Amino acid sequence: MDTGMNKSLELRKFVVPELVMGQGASLLINRYAMHFGARKALLVTDKHLRKQPWFQEIIEAIEQAEIETHLFDDVSCNPKDYEVMIGAEQFLGEECDIIVAIGGGSPMDCAKGIGIVSTNGGHILDYVGVDEIKLPGPPLICIPTTAGTSADVSQFAIIADTSENIKKAIISKKVVPDLALIDNNPLKTMDPYLTACTGMDSLTHAIEACVSNARSDLTHVHALESVRMITNHLEAAVQPDRSVETLWEMMVGTLHAGFAFSNASLGAVHAMAHSLGGLYDLPHGECNGILLEKVIEANFQAAEPYFRQIAEKMDLSVANMNTEEACIALVERIRQLRRKVGIPDYLPMESIDEIALEKLTENALQDPCMVTNPKIMAKEEVKKIYGQLFKEKKQS
Ligand SMILES: [Fe+2]
Repeated sequence: MDTGMNKSLELRKFVVPELVMGQGASLLINRYAMHFGARKALLVTDKHLRKQPWFQEIIEAIEQAEIETHLFDDVSCNPKDYEVMIGAEQFLGEECDIIVAIGGGSPMDCAKGIGIVSTNGGHILDYVGVDEIKLPGPPLICIPTTAGTSADVSQFAIIADTSENIKKAIISKKVVPDLALIDNNPLKTMDPYLTACTGMDSLTHAIEACVSNARSDLTHVHALESVRMITNHLEAAVQPDRSVETLWEMMVGTLHAGFAFSNASLGAVHAMAHSLGGLYDLPHGECNGILLEKVIEANFQAAEPYFRQIAEKMDLSVANMNTEEACIALVERIRQLRRKVGIPDYLPMESIDEIALEKLTENALQDPCMVTNPKIMAKEEVKKIYGQLFKEKKQS
């Protein structure tokens, strides 16, 4: 068992972007874009967001600085490789010199991909893996509109390879944005189910960073604080009468999770969620929410001291419980939270055949997030967990 005592002196790095956070931060875009000497900005977003009133205010703020804009809003849930390539073509064709991403994880990850390709050339999938990017992209400013993905602070970009239906991870310091403008205003228009999914994504970031093989003392502080904040505020954040203060607590909790996982990486939940999301084009947070309890059961003994700390942050007293009791208590606590925020027990597909199950498993085992899982997951174990996510498993 890893007690953590020998980990403190291992070499670790910690990378975060510049942040400006608080009410009205997004409207400082003009000042900061001017700091980068920008003349023309590629705005990366999705079609739903550009109709929001606060979106227009951000555009007006940019235009006040006499910076031209070109809008790229062809970004879908789980951003696709070809969307990145079209965006990069537009960035270069329109002679833009800065990228502004406004949105949740999908527009921000797509914007990161556009930056990579527009500077380094080639295809976005050439950069899949860890530290495969040679040159930094153009300046990237992120304005997050959900409390969950942390793409605005992370070293990760997740892009769907549409030829193989797999989500692939690009992990590099060169995809950390130059600046994140974190404002409470855009959060108000987040719908409750999106809030639930992004909140569970964020809780998963915090938990996986806590137990990651690449954790450090610094990431651990952020990860545990994130678990506490998200546990305390997620339920209220999905209610129709939620307050701005609650959404802001979720945003700060998400930031802590982002600092933690960006530097400690993730684990089997994300590896398996990337595989699922790629094959079925499902919301990322929903996949994580459905997987989390089952992966904790599999991992608990391999990182027990850290799981006990997580349990305490979720208001459970596990000190006098044995291993099995503590694991059951933590899993039950997460199950209650997931159900209360409306994330289902099973995936929307009723069943899976053996060929698809094999493909899901192979893809998950190849995902870079699997490397930092606290234990090596056997193929049969991953397969078994996937099988439990469908109401009925059919063999072909
Ligand atoms: Fe995630």
